[in-house]
Amino acid sequence: MTRRRTAILISGRGSNMVSLLEAASHAEFPARVVAVISNRPDAPGLARAVAAGIHAEALDHKRFAGRAAFEEALDARLRAHDVDLICLAGFMRLLTAPFVEAWRDRMLNIHPSLLPAFPGLDTHARALAAGVRFAGCTVHVVRPEMDAGPIVAQACVPVLPDDDAERLGARVLAAEHRLYPHALALFARGAARVEGDHIAYGQGIAFPDATALAPLDG
Ligand code: GAR
Repeated sequence: MTRRRTAILISGRGSNMVSLLEAASHAEFPARVVAVISNRPDAPGLARAVAAGIHAEALDHKRFAGRAAFEEALDARLRAHDVDLICLAGFMRLLTAPFVEAWRDRMLNIHPSLLPAFPGLDTHARALAAGVRFAGCTVHVVRPEMDAGPIVAQACVPVLPDDDAERLGARVLAAEHRLYPHALALFARGAARVEGDHIAYGQGIAFPDATALAPLDG
């Protein structure tokens, strides 16, 4: 098995990054993390990557004249690491269409809602305001439109009567930590692949009930 060379892009604490690093630390995992890159030099996730023995670097977007210059440098760093796949994990900088197209079908993102509901920021407060009974998270292939693209996997959690955004967010985050490694594994080994606007799943992928991770290996 060829393990896909994967870079994780972060902007903050990197808890999803940690869950990916933990999964990828196993030799049988189909992706291997070769670099962690943050657009914020003060991101706490950088130290967590180094502690896990992973190459980590900052590429401060503020030091570039504009988005195009930043993305050109980011692209160069990813190519220097000979990256096959990119995982956005709390990377809070919008990427423009030329960069997204250059990495088309090779870049995943995790978002803390059941897309296409609640793209953007403040997802948990908006979910509570809308009165939904289930919330969750989505791993999708990145397209130029924000928080959009073929959905690889989703997990849902209940919204409880006494929830506030913080309590709901913590429940969703725990689901994110289980979902992202699972989705990356499916994608990296070609069991989930892009077909047009959707994901096609390989043989042996089962779809359990809606409150479990979906889809799962059979
Ligand atoms: C996560 O909840 C992730 O889903 C969200 O930022 C958080 C990062 O936490 N991403 C987005 O909202 C992207 N639109 P982490 O740094 O601890 O992984």
